[in-house]
Amino acid sequence: MASVTYENATLVYPGASEPSVKSINLDIADGEFLVLVGPSGCGKSTTLRMLAGLEEVSSGRILIGGRDVTHAQPKERDIAMVFQNYALYPHMTVRENMGFALKIAGEPKEVINQRVEQAAKTLDLTELLDRKPKALSGGQRQRVAMGRAIVREPQVFLMDEPLSNLDAKLRVQTRTQIASLQRRLGVTTVYVTHDQTEALTMGDRIAVLNQGELQQVGTPRELYEHPNNVFVAGFIGSPAMNIGTFALDDDGYATLGQARVRVPEQVRQALTAEDKSQVVIGFRPEALELVSEAEAASATEGIIPVQLDFVEELGSDSYLYGRLVGGGQLSSGAEQNPEKSDQIVVRALPHVAPQPGTVVYARIREDGQHFFSSTTGQRLVD
Ligand SMILES: Nc1ncnc2c1ncn2[C@@H]1O[C@H](COP(=O)(O)OP(=O)(O)OP(=O)(O)O)[C@@H](O)[C@H]1O
Ligand SMILES: [Mg+2]
Repeated sequence: MASVTYENATLVYPGASEPSVKSINLDIADGEFLVLVGPSGCGKSTTLRMLAGLEEVSSGRILIGGRDVTHAQPKERDIAMVFQNYALYPHMTVRENMGFALKIAGEPKEVINQRVEQAAKTLDLTELLDRKPKALSGGQRQRVAMGRAIVREPQVFLMDEPLSNLDAKLRVQTRTQIASLQRRLGVTTVYVTHDQTEALTMGDRIAVLNQGELQQVGTPRELYEHPNNVFVAGFIGSPAMNIGTFALDDDGYATLGQARVRVPEQVRQALTAEDKSQVVIGFRPEALELVSEAEAASATEGIIPVQLDFVEELGSDSYLYGRLVGGGQLSSGAEQNPEKSDQIVVRALPHVAPQPGTVVYARIREDGQHFFSSTTGQRLVD
């Protein structure tokens, strides 16, 4: 087992004008489960491959267990990788597939058998050891791929979207299995996914990457409750955070359409001249509460009238989707977020869900809003 460190690690692919990974600094503790998450093309696989030694870093250093492995060959790094396409050898049994790397390494037969059987027990594959991959389900094949990595008893596991070939239900099941297996084995793991739900449910900590740059590293709760910038705010959470650019007036309020929100003194102080009387405000669907029309009429601030388009009933709660009355664009996140829309999403209790077509009034709960600079996208106050 070992810690992992990226020190100003940068990678420029041959012929590329821009680095694919830009000066990443990241410390992963011994035994930690770290999830690297971000949109397609942001550099997740590249970051993982740099650690594996499959791509040579252009500058910076990589350390495993305190040892500088920046220029070490992949096989000298004592890591095991599970890929999205974990292609098992079709002509080999589960036992042979799992033991193959050890056989190549010249381990004695007894050692191989012992480790394979131990791993099979851990992964609940004992009954399947003599089968060929084609006689296995998708989830079972995935576990064999995991087994292949486990038997090598590496210092670090690297996993690149290992669940993306599985259907939705199996993915949920398997992600729980992988997370609990990792905790049991205690092997430092770097896990890549583009799925923020997977990141939130599996990781001890999450590192969010966008356009080759590390945006924020923290526990799932830290990222959810305290996003450092607009990108993280929009990327983490589902349905995504409501985010809009509001105009500031001289009385300390920010408006968008008919929505009017008080801006604390602290936030106004943090604005710069470049921000030009604008502020980006984000609030999650559950940070909104519905108020009655009468209450809305008597309130002077904080009310957001919403023209309701449709209601999604989930049994335990419901999501109301609508648009701001009086216009104004809200988007669910950063420019890079494909879900960008002019929608506002409100979470409500199912039995109070109003009818589509009506106007409802929402209010941001106390401390439910996040303020960001409209020029830099950075969070304005802690
Ligand atoms: N071999 C290569 N040569 C040149 N550019 C590459 C190479 N591999 C990846 N890239 C570029 O580097 C960037 C990061 O790619 P990478 O594969 O790390 O993204 P990713 O986050 O894993 O995306 P995805 O979620 O789609 O797998 C992309 O812009 C990609 O086009
Ligand atoms: Mg990738």
